[in-house]
Amino acid sequence: MKRGYPESLSSSLGPPQSRFKHNPQGDAQFPEDESTKIFARKVADHYSARTNQTLEEREASPIIHLKKLNNWIKSVLIQLYARKGDAVLDLACGKGGDLIKWDKAKVEYYVGVDIAEGSMEDCRTRYNGDADHHQRRKKFTFPARLLCGDCFEVRLDKVLANDAPFDICSCQFAMHYSWSTEARARRALANVSALLRPGGTFIGTMPDANVIIKKLREAEGMAFGNSVYWIQFDEEFSDKKFKSSSPFGIKYKFHLEDAVDCPEWIVPFHLFKSLAEEYGFELVFVKNSHEFVHEYMKRPEFLELMRRLGALGDGNQDQTTLSPEEWEVAYLYLAFVLKKVGPICSYLCICYVHHAFSSCLSNSFTIRSY
Ligand SMILES: C[S@@+](CC[C@H](N)C(=O)[O-])C[C@H]1O[C@@H](n2cnc3c(N)ncnc32)[C@H](O)[C@@H]1O
Repeated sequence: MKRGYPESLSSSLGPPQSRFKHNPQGDAQFPEDESTKIFARKVADHYSARTNQTLEEREASPIIHLKKLNNWIKSVLIQLYARKGDAVLDLACGKGGDLIKWDKAKVEYYVGVDIAEGSMEDCRTRYNGDADHHQRRKKFTFPARLLCGDCFEVRLDKVLANDAPFDICSCQFAMHYSWSTEARARRALANVSALLRPGGTFIGTMPDANVIIKKLREAEGMAFGNSVYWIQFDEEFSDKKFKSSSPFGIKYKFHLEDAVDCPEWIVPFHLFKSLAEEYGFELVFVKNSHEFVHEYMKRPEFLELMRRLGALGDGNQDQTTLSPEEWEVAYLYLAFVLKKVGPICSYLCICYVHHAFSSCLSNSFTIRSY
């Protein structure tokens, strides 16, 4: 599906200045080493192996209220920023847990990409509404394209050339998997930037590095957690100091009961914001999940949604509710919204920062033709 928008010349925009130390071999090819690929595979295998739960199994999960709370946060983001008729790019879409949310927002087109083959298979089943006795059956009104691939390695602008531009991009609980190397972090942002229309919105959720580092520093050793999660850093970070000049590859092991058990990477949000600015984004807001919940629970429609989803119980005395341990896990995450401010092409941007400007820029350069 190709959707048109007025083409703009990029030459009216000056080159962005990078605050980052660049990959010495850096150019738009983003070379990857073997260990990076091995970790990406580990993450993919972990999610691929997670089977779809029955509704009964889901309700019995020790983190069921946290799952409902996270669904509420994603629903609020989608209701705030998706518009009727939007084309949606869902990066790291998983099993398609947000399909119903997008349907409620009356979007017109959906592309979901994820690295985990098993999750994409479940996503397809859920989208088709067939043979899935585990979940609620549902037929979706919008056409969808589902792809399996590494969103932080592949040039999605090429793969999705006929689907772009998108009005909104969502990357829920996954952006941190791109911060294993600068190359992957850049590829992630370059992909989103290249595929969103100017004025388009990028919404997401990811771990809050400030909270994680604070908890690490408060811990006696290199691990901390509670009955539903633990986080473990390697001894290489035993001084618990993290330099802004090398913000990529800060790995930890994350375990969340009935959900996650794989390596993850710290994303210092102020640096994520700076890097995103290089790719033509402007920060609309970032909020820790606790702040997000407090703020949007003040709105009657979202309070009602919270009641319906049952994250905090449904108001009846005998209903179970979010445990303090689950609430502590919620605090580990933040929600962000970025806006694509200009018609800057992300891949051009990379050329700018690597001083290869003249080699890749023709006189009448446009976003669409790159
Ligand atoms: C915590 S799950 C979130 C799934 C979905 N966004 C949601 O909110 O339900 C993280 C997802 O990120 C995906 N993922 C991790 N690394 C990825 C990569 N390099 N490319 C694409 N997907 C990736 C995993 O396969 C997994 O489905």
